[in-house]
Amino acid sequence: MSEMNAEGRTRLDRMPEWNALAKHREELGEVHLRELFANDPQRAERYSLSVGDLHLDYSKHLVTDETLRLLRELAAAAGVAELRDAMFRGEKINTTEDRAVLHTALRAPESTDIEVEGAHGKENVVLAVHAVLRKMQVFTDRVRSGDWKGHTGKRIKNVVNIGIGGSDLGPAMAYEALRAYTDREMTFRFVSNVDGADLHEALRDLDPAETLFVIASKTFTTIETITNATSARNWLLTGLRAGEEAVAKHFVALSTNEEKVSEFGIDTANMFEFWDWVGGRYSFDSAIGLSLMLAIGPDHFREMLAGFHLVDEHFRCAPPEENAPLLLGLLGIWYGNFHDAQSHAVLPYSHYLSKFTAYLQQLDMESNGKSTGRDGQPVNWQTGPVVWGTPGTNGQHAYYQLIHQGTKMIPADLIGFAKPVDDLLPGLVGQHDLLMANLFAQGQALAFGKTPEEVAAEGVPPELIPHKTFRGNHPTTTVLASELTPSVLGQLIALYEHKVFVQGAIWNIDSFDQWGVELGKVLAKRVEPALVEGAEVPGLDASTQALVARYRALRGR
Ligand code: F6P
Repeated sequence: MSEMNAEGRTRLDRMPEWNALAKHREELGEVHLRELFANDPQRAERYSLSVGDLHLDYSKHLVTDETLRLLRELAAAAGVAELRDAMFRGEKINTTEDRAVLHTALRAPESTDIEVEGAHGKENVVLAVHAVLRKMQVFTDRVRSGDWKGHTGKRIKNVVNIGIGGSDLGPAMAYEALRAYTDREMTFRFVSNVDGADLHEALRDLDPAETLFVIASKTFTTIETITNATSARNWLLTGLRAGEEAVAKHFVALSTNEEKVSEFGIDTANMFEFWDWVGGRYSFDSAIGLSLMLAIGPDHFREMLAGFHLVDEHFRCAPPEENAPLLLGLLGIWYGNFHDAQSHAVLPYSHYLSKFTAYLQQLDMESNGKSTGRDGQPVNWQTGPVVWGTPGTNGQHAYYQLIHQGTKMIPADLIGFAKPVDDLLPGLVGQHDLLMANLFAQGQALAFGKTPEEVAAEGVPPELIPHKTFRGNHPTTTVLASELTPSVLGQLIALYEHKVFVQGAIWNIDSFDQWGVELGKVLAKRVEPALVEGAEVPGLDASTQALVARYRALRGR
């Protein structure tokens, strides 16, 4: 295998910076966080930084100044800054799809100029972004004020977003995160699963005359979304006892594909556009955020975009020593590539962030779950981790046992907020302080554990001491913000987006394609006729054939 990759750079695992890190890892051995803190009283202060409203404490990581220096040198040698600048300039860094990667343009102020080659030569995409934002705003104001009426003249009270992957997870997650900012008079539902139960449960108590469907699909060909949208249209027309003319008042589309939108029967005047340089998992601050804008209103939506932009600018301009997404990306490389960590837990101490980790799973795993490099060669190093987690306190009573005393290294992010949202129930008994006490306690327990001596000093019988000992040394980043506002949510997401970018750049993979999801889609289309009509599927393996036969028998076919 060549020492060089297609861009003329040395392959990652042949770089002196990579080898220096491997050597450094050996030298550090099993150094304990207790020791690192004991040796440096300033560690907590020195190993923390602020970006906008986010405070990051990374002192509970198994790193020294030397580790961080070597990691930054690796990033420099791997060309992270050059690729970042190329992304912000709108170059086609998504090489396997020959596309620019410009989600950062979605939150750029209107005065910014980012030129991208379009159908009519070079165009400033920021102008197009703001034109769509204004169209979204006008529509949102009409719906929220009751000016936009359904087919029978009733005002819209329910919004049902139909989409999947990036066309669902982003708006659904952000809707939960910003519940306190939503119009509580309206009902919002998010339907993604092709399992009809999802749509059934979402619609069963809604009045079609008061329901607006937002069909979110970049391609407008995704089978799950088109199937759900078709069923939703049937439900609407049956419920209203109306013909196709009712669709115009109850269906809008968010898409890049005008032709398919119109083929589906949605008037393209009711289409909110975005562009092929917005990846699905990076799209919820584009028109894909319409359901969210309907829920929180245009001003809050713009505050969220400003939060994203703040971190974009930080990532673009902050020096490596203070660059938060760079740092988080590098810490992930340190554990994944030099400590054999296979997964990364994201543990929000906020009920409102209950869908945050699911959102990050697509962002991270669809981006960096790759084993072929940008040069077309197999990578010889670990790439994206398994990302997982749920709100922290619930996890404490479920899987934290394994993080504390299991055999695996699981670096984790603990995310919390100083203030609860301001419309919580009267009568809550100091629950927010208790919630946050848990966050701080877990960070402490994971890092420092409990020694056998400490356990013995509590009078624990000798045979139980090994069971009650906590090794500690489990690395965490604590992300603390004042409160979960729209801007803070934007800041958090951009932080993770750019972290994922940094890692993909170092691993030399295309973080912006997703060929790995194609095969299953193609096979599902081939297998479906076998389920329904018993059709012969050429080349079907014996196991699948037997399962299909059993399925048909169970369905009485
Ligand atoms: O799962 C593949 C994928 O293409 C995702 O990247 C995307 O977010 C999702 O499907 C939905 O695609 P679309 O918005 O085109 O319906």
